[in-house]
Amino acid sequence: MAASNPDAVYLKDYQPSAYLINRTELHFDLLEDCVIVSSRIHLLRISAPAETASITLNGEEMELLSVSVDGRKLEEEEYRVSAKALVIYSIPEQCVLACETRIRPQENTSLSGLYKSRSLFCTQCEAEGFRRITYYIDRPDVMSVFTVTVEGDLQRYPVLLSNGNLIETQQVANGRHSAVWHDPFPKPAYLFALVAGNLEYIEERFTTMSDREVALRIYVEKKDIDKCGYAMRSLQQAMRWDEEVYGREYDLDIFNIVAVDDFNMGAMENKSLNIFNTSCVLCSSQITTDLGFQRVQSIVAHEYFHNWSGNRVTCRDWFQLSLKEGFTVFRDSQFSADMGSATVKRVEDVSLLRSVQFAEDAGPMSHPIRPESFIEINNFYTATVYEKGAEVVRMIHTLLGAESFRRGSDLYFERHDGQAVTCEDFVLAMEDASGINLQQFRYWYSQAGTPHLSVQDDYDEAAQCYTLHVEQSCPATPGQAKKSPFVIPLAVGLLGEAGNLPLRLQDAPADTDTGDNTHRVLTVSQSKQSFVFEGVTERPVPSLLRGFSAPVSLHFNYSSQDLCALMRRDGDGFVRWDSAQTLLARVIFAVEQQFVSGTAAILDQLLIDACSDLLRDESLDPAMVAEMLRLPGEEYLAEQASQSGGANVDSIHQAREWVRSALGQALAPLFLQRYQGLESHLAAATEATQIADRSLRNMCLGYLVSGNRDNLALASAQYRQATNMTDRQAALKEIAFYAGHELRASTLDNFHQQWRHEALVVNQWFQVQAAIPDSEGLSRVQLLMCHADFDLGNPNKVRALVGGFVNQNLINFHHLDGSGYRFLKDMVVKLNRLNPQLASRLLTPLTKWRRYPDRGELMRAELEGLAAEPALSSDVFEIVSKSLQ
Ligand code: BES
Ligand code: ZN
Repeated sequence: MAASNPDAVYLKDYQPSAYLINRTELHFDLLEDCVIVSSRIHLLRISAPAETASITLNGEEMELLSVSVDGRKLEEEEYRVSAKALVIYSIPEQCVLACETRIRPQENTSLSGLYKSRSLFCTQCEAEGFRRITYYIDRPDVMSVFTVTVEGDLQRYPVLLSNGNLIETQQVANGRHSAVWHDPFPKPAYLFALVAGNLEYIEERFTTMSDREVALRIYVEKKDIDKCGYAMRSLQQAMRWDEEVYGREYDLDIFNIVAVDDFNMGAMENKSLNIFNTSCVLCSSQITTDLGFQRVQSIVAHEYFHNWSGNRVTCRDWFQLSLKEGFTVFRDSQFSADMGSATVKRVEDVSLLRSVQFAEDAGPMSHPIRPESFIEINNFYTATVYEKGAEVVRMIHTLLGAESFRRGSDLYFERHDGQAVTCEDFVLAMEDASGINLQQFRYWYSQAGTPHLSVQDDYDEAAQCYTLHVEQSCPATPGQAKKSPFVIPLAVGLLGEAGNLPLRLQDAPADTDTGDNTHRVLTVSQSKQSFVFEGVTERPVPSLLRGFSAPVSLHFNYSSQDLCALMRRDGDGFVRWDSAQTLLARVIFAVEQQFVSGTAAILDQLLIDACSDLLRDESLDPAMVAEMLRLPGEEYLAEQASQSGGANVDSIHQAREWVRSALGQALAPLFLQRYQGLESHLAAATEATQIADRSLRNMCLGYLVSGNRDNLALASAQYRQATNMTDRQAALKEIAFYAGHELRASTLDNFHQQWRHEALVVNQWFQVQAAIPDSEGLSRVQLLMCHADFDLGNPNKVRALVGGFVNQNLINFHHLDGSGYRFLKDMVVKLNRLNPQLASRLLTPLTKWRRYPDRGELMRAELEGLAAEPALSSDVFEIVSKSLQ
């Protein structure tokens, strides 16, 4: 472990900065082995006046060449430099502090601060990367107006970009040139960006609602210039949508997006200069799957939406991260819902929340959406802060209704424009604009853990009364033994023989909000509460948590018949899907039990009939049918199993595979009929109906292959004839997973040959192979790590191969000989030095050791091994030490 363990930072210790930085002037001299950064920061002390006072500036991994105050160079005894800071002992109340530093972007493998992605200079400053560029007060509540000069070689770096408007360009000596950028909006350092390189761009114009013209540009390498169109259209759609739905307009004359190969995250919302991972911008139907297109659309929108929810109104401190991320994820999910199928989008979001966030909430890293402490902020860009944070905003939207919510967001943006604020400010604006008290609702911000909602019903035929008894509880999480009851919006309906029944809630006015009298949102706020419906003429099946109205785990003792009824006939698309998932999970667990007890497995006829009806009904949205037939993932099943005793990865895998194969056999003619009936053309590749058709068609292919390996011939034909990457990749996956050695090898080889010049496609190739659930799982991955196309310095490749293995190849990662765990530990040790953020994210699967009674000890041993490593980064240290507690 590190010689001295890094300390935690606490929300309760927040203090405003003693200094403001009104203006920041930066000059970058881009050289081939280093970069010289000259900064002039205009400081103003705002804390209690003193004749002189010291100042501490953040700064890491740099060499200080000179420091001066108001033009006077400081003597060595006037300041102190440590590994993480520059302290100047005495500084006037108002002054200009100038520093000259040398940094080495060429050697920066952590991809934080200024670094080189191949020949391109680029930056990533969130959360605390700016302090690797120059000495600064690197915290989000210190906002400053930036003027930036970038100077570099004209041939190598014809494009020089930073935030805001281009003020001037100049040729300078030695074949160099420079550009001056000025951003009129005060911003925290984490939104600073710089890009320099040899890039081309596409350009479009956008006219804002108040008739201002904005130039939109996407910069990429020349070879990728034909793959930017979709991102550009997505940007235009997002800009229009934010005007229409939130009344938010863009505020500068230029908006740039730059794509870079080496990037730790998906994308970053730097003011007017968004930087994107190539994987989140570039697309064409030849190299991108339908899911990939959707991801590009939502990320482009997400980063754009930050211009208001994040940039114009930013975070006071990093504990408030969900203020910008939760709200912006909510905004981008609304946008995606409006651009395509709202129910499918909801289903995808909930699947992610349940498999990733619920697990996080149940594990050692469990934290509230507004954490109270952290060791390394980079570890808190989590599913909890993002996805659960978005669910919390969604609940406010549900409780207030769309109109009041909009008034609340208007008030929030008006009140806090140009400020760095807190989650509390957001909730207050929502309360003030709506008149609704959210006092108790605030527990969602401070309490961790997934609330458990258990519902029982009671039908009094004589009185025609139907009662729902609701009980909530929340498991203990690290540091929080007892929880107070949450406010839980519980959207419900009641399903009768002929459809959803009209609802009359006792002692309550009619729900005027929806105009639909078969739907109602109950507000659960006590540990135990009952809701009585009157005039209920038959015993209904309750349709609960419609639209997933709250991020809770819901328990109602449904019979399989009830689930089938909901699946077929409920008025809420989400509940139809959810009922199918519950039924499928139940069947898989039943089969697992049969395996364990040695009895012959049989498939529930109810399930076969329900799936058969789904497939037969051509009036249903094929995309929804596909989602309803998608088996719950192994990761989700393992989490479910661990809630009731413990998970066995092998038997879960076996049972799940068996169910798919049995369903594939039982319904083979239907799957084949749908497979052949659905079309898949290249034209209008991203049209919603085409996407939906492909999704069901490929789902059918999966079942067909599972049911009968002879159907690999279909996959092979589809692979050869595919006109788009969605179909090609789906076929490749079936072949890679289930074909014999020869067909698998030749197809994988063919795929690589055809696409080896497209890095993003090669990553898909890595990922498919990483997930193959056969006995060579790990050795295949180890071999691929030596492949010429693999590169440990590129996060996309590491995520595809290593991440693909540890997250999507559960039976091999969890091999009882411990080899998967050892492999991950070794990778984390390597990456800990190169790229701590990436190392710490990859580590997540090992932290779930308590889930697995039969092999948890093996996992824990590797964590102990990691803990004993010298020079652990704060990123890895935090995850390892918290997992072992
Ligand atoms: N601000 C983040 C990017 C970021 C995260 C930078 C962590 C530094 C550290 C950005 O707005 C973001 O949230 N990106 C997401 C994608 C988004 C669609 C949820 C990402 O990169 O995964
Ligand atoms: Zn974001």
